[in-house]
Amino acid sequence: MNVLLKIWKRRSRLTRIAILAIATLTILLTCILPVLTQQRVKITVMMQALEAAQWQPMEAKFEAENPDIDLEIIEAPNATNLVEDLYTSAFLLGDSPYDLVYLDIVWVPKFAAAGWLQDLNQFISEDELAAFLDGDVNGGKYQEGLYRMPFRSDGGMLYYRSDLLAENGYDPPETFAELIDISRDLQEKGVAKWGYVWQGRQYEGLPAMFVEILAGFGAYWVNPDTLEVGLDSENAIAAVEFLRETIDEGISPPGVTTYAEEETRRLFQGGETVFLRNWPYVAGLASQSDIAGKFALKPMVHQPGYPSGACQGGWGLGMSATTKHPEEAWRVIEFISSEETQREFVLETGYLPSRRSLFNDPAIVAKYSYYPQLLEVVENSALRPPIAQYAQTSDILQRYLSAALTNTMSAEKAMKAAAAETRRLLAR
Ligand code: GLC
Repeated sequence: MNVLLKIWKRRSRLTRIAILAIATLTILLTCILPVLTQQRVKITVMMQALEAAQWQPMEAKFEAENPDIDLEIIEAPNATNLVEDLYTSAFLLGDSPYDLVYLDIVWVPKFAAAGWLQDLNQFISEDELAAFLDGDVNGGKYQEGLYRMPFRSDGGMLYYRSDLLAENGYDPPETFAELIDISRDLQEKGVAKWGYVWQGRQYEGLPAMFVEILAGFGAYWVNPDTLEVGLDSENAIAAVEFLRETIDEGISPPGVTTYAEEETRRLFQGGETVFLRNWPYVAGLASQSDIAGKFALKPMVHQPGYPSGACQGGWGLGMSATTKHPEEAWRVIEFISSEETQREFVLETGYLPSRRSLFNDPAIVAKYSYYPQLLEVVENSALRPPIAQYAQTSDILQRYLSAALTNTMSAEKAMKAAAAETRRLLAR
């Protein structure tokens, strides 16, 4: 040691600085840089832009707790079918650039049947899955496999202006007719411009909304077990006529046939409509708007004698069959679906959790008092048919329903044509 010290002291100042610089660089190159760069595995997932922004805090927390993983979130358009098209093209082109797939519940059979996803049963037990809502778990299954871990559940609801109803002596409506009557009265009194606003654009949101009207009329779309098609039944045609009536009578704006979720949310938040059909995410956002404290939500209206239907929606993570990093990808899924992450995300955004216990979680109920009631709604939901040909089935319904709503075809003609085309598709 003494010898080294003597040699060091004999060197000029410049040489000492050079030695120190070389030593620092060597340590940086050999020890620190590899940790920072080479060992970080990149896990990529794509999702709708609205949600990508909401995932930022989770992403930051995950990366802080897992310094060896770089979670990259790619933004896509907000409409579910556009995101589905982007994933589909990526898989059809070969090795998908995505390690994880953020899946809408209705894509699962198609993606699983095509062999694009890994069976997650290798990572999780039935016991662990029992903590999640049945509808969400079942929606992630295809044949014997589990292809999607549920993250957030979803169910269609009826929002109403509780202040306007109370001021005018109305209870919240139970039936379609009551909804029309209250709307008409409040519009005539000049209390609100529109009565009822819903998603009428030709996209996936249209059948999602429509299965609720079908359920409320005691009708169905496709029976997933027998593949029978119910779109041309008298009650299904009446369901379409109800929607047409809302437009013809000026209860709904003519532009409703071009609206997706966000357009309808803005009208509701802007105080322009008494009723709105939408998903639970609206409650979180509307609570920070001018109508905060002036609205409530309830299960969808229905015909007397028939049940109320909430469309089963929801999102979760699947793992791409071609990912080179299944262990790291699973760590992301585990983190995202954990109770703690879901609680924080729900508190922040107002989305529904997929873990049953969180609907009665004290912190969540303190913020959203209506959550225990929502559990009942999502546990009795109306399904879009969970079949591998769902995307084409949905396209057919979207086309004909849109033709009926825009007055290009009568409700009866449109539903008969939709039923016939769906039968031909399912017979193939
Ligand atoms: C919501 C639902 C999803 C549905 C979509 C339709 O995101 O969670 O299941 O397909 O809305 O727009």
